[in-house]
Amino acid sequence: MKLFIDTANTKDIAMANELGVICGVTTNPSLIAKEGLVFEEVIKEITTIVDGPISAEVLSLEAPGMVEEALKLASIHPNIVIKLPMTLEGLKATKILSSKNIKTNVTLVFSANQALLAARAGATYVSPFVGRLDDIGFDGNVLIKDIAEIFETHKITTEIIAASVRNPIHVLESAKAGAHIATVPYSVIKQMVNHPLTTAGIERFMADWAGLTEVLNNEK
Ligand code: E4P
Repeated sequence: MKLFIDTANTKDIAMANELGVICGVTTNPSLIAKEGLVFEEVIKEITTIVDGPISAEVLSLEAPGMVEEALKLASIHPNIVIKLPMTLEGLKATKILSSKNIKTNVTLVFSANQALLAARAGATYVSPFVGRLDDIGFDGNVLIKDIAEIFETHKITTEIIAASVRNPIHVLESAKAGAHIATVPYSVIKQMVNHPLTTAGIERFMADWAGLTEVLNNEK
């Protein structure tokens, strides 16, 4: 499973990119608004940091408006992926954009049937929201498994992005369930790095090394 970073914070994107663990970025209107940035400008800046798929979401609710916005966003950089909501209008726009070879990410997917429809409309990616399902007492991981099974059975090439990832368990379960990608906040990447035994192991090595150095110095 590949990892994307889920943020519009360019500092976090640059730090995650430096680690070499991410190969794409997802944003949404809430994430851009949180940073208080101008939409097109931040998307342009992200393209200079990460050389991989960068999802930028349209704001229109009708297909013609979605397509118009998508064409402008897609002209920013060849890595731009147009994020569209899982609605009838979103599907229409997905079909039009896919016929123009513009990559799409159908978002706000909460059922396997929605994922199937998005794939059939030509979506490059579908984004099932694991965390938001967990929030209302449904197992988001079951959704990932169902979509992965359906796509595998029917040889569907649309990639599954596990989204709304809130913790390392979501990442682990998404990988086991067959997601192609998990898009994760930088805070979750840092949580994935940390393990108390790794920290304790480094402290032990350092202490032992300091002890040896002291013995050698005393022998001089
Ligand atoms: C990613 O594509 C989604 O927009 C994002 O993961 C949503 O996450 P949230 O449910 O934490 O807002």
